[in-house]
Amino acid sequence: MSAMLVRRERPADLEAIRRVHREAFTAPEPGAEPVEVALLDGLRADGSLIEPCCLVAEVEGEIVGHVAVSLGTVDGVPRLVGLGPIGVLPEWQGRGIGSALMHATLAAADAADIEGVVLLGHESYYPRFGFEPAVPQGIMPPDPSWPDANFLLRPLTAWGSPRGQFRYAPAFERL
Ligand SMILES: CC(C)(COP(=O)(O)OP(=O)(O)OC[C@H]1O[C@@H](n2cnc3c(N)ncnc32)[C@H](O)[C@@H]1OP(=O)(O)O)[C@@H](O)C(=O)NCCC(=O)NCCS
Repeated sequence: MSAMLVRRERPADLEAIRRVHREAFTAPEPGAEPVEVALLDGLRADGSLIEPCCLVAEVEGEIVGHVAVSLGTVDGVPRLVGLGPIGVLPEWQGRGIGSALMHATLAAADAADIEGVVLLGHESYYPRFGFEPAVPQGIMPPDPSWPDANFLLRPLTAWGSPRGQFRYAPAFERL
């Protein structure tokens, strides 16, 4: 593979970032857009994105992957962030690009003194990045129907053991 760079997103990347999520995720019906595209637009419009942690993967000038991180709350206090969406163009999946984005965004969040990162995801993929079930750490999901095995937390260096209910940024709740 040609050199793959991970860097912060820039305003000129926005249409290419939309394309990544449009192609990576499945639309609810043919001809429609995956909800992740509108989610990202909403997070951006609301000012909920944590810009130093929103990264693209670039190969020969083409944006092939993107990860977003946004401000969340624990019992109403902004102490944790939510990771997602993360997407890699289908033809580039399975080559380590998603892993590179995960490591880089977690390192950026750590460097920004964020306490921890939360996501709803597959229990077999995310533990390799240090994610573990959030509920045993005292972080409850926004919706009690979410399976504990998929509601995951990655504590960072600044972790100060917040306890309570996690809520994603408002754009997630408008989905
Ligand atoms: C998830 C995603 C970002 C991973 O990117 P990637 O570049 O393919 O990932 P990597 O090459 O670093 O890692 C591949 C590994 O991820 C696993 N994987 C990929 N997608 C997965 C998923 N949705 N659930 C569980 N595991 C997944 C592969 O099985 C592979 O595992 P292995 O190393 O044990 O064989 C990418 O596959 C993607 O865009 N998927 C569609 C969108 C999506 O589901 N995003 C996640 C939810 S927000």
